[in-house]
Amino acid sequence: MPKIAVIGLGYVGLTTAAGLASLGHTVTGVDIDVGRVESLRAGTPPFFEHKLDELLAEQIESESLSFESSFSTLTREIEFAFLAVPTPALPDGQADLSYLNAALASLVSTIGTKFKAIVKSTVPVGTCRKLQESLSGYDIHVVSNPEFLSEGNAVRDFLAPSRIVVGSTDDNVGQGVLDLYDGIDAPRLVCSPESAEMIKHASNSFLAVKLSFVNELARFCEVTGANVDDVTQGVGLDPRIGPNFMSPGPGWGGSCFPKDTSELASSSRRSGTPMTTVEAAVASNQTAIMHVLELLREQLGGDLKGKQIAVWGLAFKANTDDTRDSPALQVAQRIIDEGGTVLGFDPMAKIPGNLKVKQTSTAIEACSQSQALVVLTEWPEFSTINPEEVKSVLQAPAAILDTRRILDQSVWRDAFPNFKVVGGN
Ligand code: UDX
Ligand code: UDX
Repeated sequence: MPKIAVIGLGYVGLTTAAGLASLGHTVTGVDIDVGRVESLRAGTPPFFEHKLDELLAEQIESESLSFESSFSTLTREIEFAFLAVPTPALPDGQADLSYLNAALASLVSTIGTKFKAIVKSTVPVGTCRKLQESLSGYDIHVVSNPEFLSEGNAVRDFLAPSRIVVGSTDDNVGQGVLDLYDGIDAPRLVCSPESAEMIKHASNSFLAVKLSFVNELARFCEVTGANVDDVTQGVGLDPRIGPNFMSPGPGWGGSCFPKDTSELASSSRRSGTPMTTVEAAVASNQTAIMHVLELLREQLGGDLKGKQIAVWGLAFKANTDDTRDSPALQVAQRIIDEGGTVLGFDPMAKIPGNLKVKQTSTAIEACSQSQALVVLTEWPEFSTINPEEVKSVLQAPAAILDTRRILDQSVWRDAFPNFKVVGGN
């Protein structure tokens, strides 16, 4: 079996390394974060991903997966090197490819000039071909193999993906990369690098456009008396639309949607073919976040100055500890900017140091003496909490704002006359 390296052991790289090892490959994971490598050697993932700890333990035990913090330990035996290093958005929306270029240069100087570089990281369309042309003196193919892992489900999405996409200038090389996934039952597509890169941005951006549409629909339902749950159910029964990704919220976030939509919007505009639907979805997402503040101000007599607000949920979505570009944190910051204070609870996520939110150890503690409670992340445990227990610690007459529609409205409305949900009752 060919030897594989995976560079960058984040949500994507680590899941990819452990997943490939579980398919029978011998995989070496490399990360510049020495502390992360040490914890991985001990079988401890640096973040939560469902079933990742089990997968890691199995592969470390079978010695099919090892970890290094330096490229120097890699040998010329490595035939495939996956690149899953960050490609963060620069202020102008373009992707910062410096980590990718550095990792590729390190590979050339260690494993030599005959290998397949497989770009997992999300990159602007055209990147792989440009990188390959910059290495034209070597026998190096730069292949696009975008990731479609949803956080919280990364292991499942690796082992049972909706599709495997490989973009290569050489069909044989592309097929060779696809062969690495033997054992996984999923539709496969080999195409040009540009098409594969575009599929990634297009998929995430289309989902973001769909969600911005749903969030705008939710706001319109609020003022027309329609119920967004019924509306999205009725609309979703059309198989061309489908029932998934139709839940309104405080806006979309995470490490992918904001980055990928800003990249697609800025690169398409620079190319003279602006994707105005994506630009509109990005702008609309800010409106969704501001709408939460508007509802809260309405509920609290017009302003948030001097008010203490309890926030349930800090992660950008449930079942992850990731707060990157979390709408919950953006709402919390805006409450603080308007003179309020925030007590925040999340079952998994930790508040980033730069946010002046007091994190509590229980959901009830966050409500202590607060004038309002805002649900911002759809953790299932929130819907099991007794509203009477919440009422006993909130400062009456308290307001409840459920931006995720997970609380039982009839029960909570009985306990709290001042109860609102995004998307209408
Ligand atoms: C990353 C990219 O950010 C994203 O654009 C791409 O779509 C998938 O890979 P993610 O796995 O969430 O997403 O990244 P993150 O969780 O930030 O982890 C990146 C890892 O790479 C970190 O462990 C970091 O230490 C490591 N890294 C970063 C390197 O090993 N080398 C570098 O030069 C930079
Ligand atoms: C996304 C894509 O789903 C995945 O395929 C890609 O590989 C990486 O980006 P992820 O960023 O983990 O995955 O989050 P996702 O589950 O897609 O949710 C993105 C945002 O949309 C979150 O803020 C979430 O709360 C929000 N969302 C999602 C809604 O508001 N309503 C929904 O119905 C679904």
